[in-house]
Amino acid sequence: MKNYTCHFSMLVAIMLLIISCSSPEDITPDPVNDDREYIPLKELFKDHFPIGAAVTPNHMDSRTPHGRTLIEHFNSLVAENVMKPDALQRVKGTYTWTNADRIVQFAKENDMKVRGHTLTWHSQTPDWFFYDENGDLHTPEVAMKQLEEHITTVVSRYKGDVYAWDVVNEAMFDWDPNGQIIYREDSPWYKIMGPAYIDSAFVYARRADPDAKLFYNDYNSIFSWKRNKIYDLVKRLKDNNIPIDGVGLQGHWNVGVSEQDIRTTLDLFRDLGVEIQITELDLSVYLSSDEPGSEVYTDAFNLRQKIAYPMIMKILLDYSDIITGVTFWGIGDDVTWLDRPGRRHFPFLLDEQLKPKPAYLEVQKLIRR
Ligand code: G3I
Repeated sequence: MKNYTCHFSMLVAIMLLIISCSSPEDITPDPVNDDREYIPLKELFKDHFPIGAAVTPNHMDSRTPHGRTLIEHFNSLVAENVMKPDALQRVKGTYTWTNADRIVQFAKENDMKVRGHTLTWHSQTPDWFFYDENGDLHTPEVAMKQLEEHITTVVSRYKGDVYAWDVVNEAMFDWDPNGQIIYREDSPWYKIMGPAYIDSAFVYARRADPDAKLFYNDYNSIFSWKRNKIYDLVKRLKDNNIPIDGVGLQGHWNVGVSEQDIRTTLDLFRDLGVEIQITELDLSVYLSSDEPGSEVYTDAFNLRQKIAYPMIMKILLDYSDIITGVTFWGIGDDVTWLDRPGRRHFPFLLDEQLKPKPAYLEVQKLIRR
């Protein structure tokens, strides 16, 4: 009896020690349903394409709800911000790797792929890439050399860890129904050297990691005025033997997105012989920017997503021979770049508590009935 009491006291002591060493997040209840009526996203689509999420470094902890949800549902990660030029090389010649490394490390520990976003962009890129100390634009030679140095350093560091890069982001002019303006001419890259930076960026990335998949990535790419420009760009690059492997369709859509627009775009790019990835999927609950904003997820929003999400995922399954990845631009409805006070967008399949929404179960029916 004495022995049992002794063992019991020791057990209690060990348990108290474990509890006292835990952070409060360790004892947060599992964020997902216990009834297991759902199949994790990565399992659901495992025969078709990896399912990714855009993340921030503070998600990279398996003791947090976000970390646990990533491990449960996703097998691919992309940094929402911390691999952009302003995060990696804010000051010329001084690289800051800590945040990006955390994401790569977490992915490795949890057997996930990593997409790299982004090497060449007009936004979130420090001025020194473009302007000299007098505020004048660099010569093409100087700007090109700096771009080469940045791409070579970043891609080499993550060689073998990052399997696909958004080499150039959003270089095409967005709204131009007559198709007169092809490139985004307000980009400092374009102002310095015209579209030549696009070609060079792909060449530098390929040299640094011959095995990485190289993507051109853009938004509004399912609309005729833009997809044709992207088609022409990719065709020109391929015709000139510039190494490009794929096109990233960002997928910042809303519940009114047209099935025909998506299918027509996928058919068009299929002809180019490139891979397609949906790189930044989020599906706003509003049908237009004129619709009044809401802070709550209404029955109407729920119904719209229960129809639109399976429609989209069915298309992606239909084209899974050319679609090599689908990445959401976030994890759950609690955090999204879209939200403004008074106007929340609820764009994901997981809700604010990171639990599957009714739309998720509708998507699941596409595969498992
Ligand atoms: O860097 C500052 C930080 O120092 C400060 O503490 C913080 C406080 O608000 O702001 C930080 O910068 C913000 C940054 O996100 C990091 O949180 C910027 O103000 C904010 O503008 C920036 O927004 C990002 C946006 O790209 C910038 O263009 C969004 O999070 C990110 O989701 C969004 O992602 C883009 C893709 O890269 C390309 N495609 C479109 C997509 C959505 O816009």
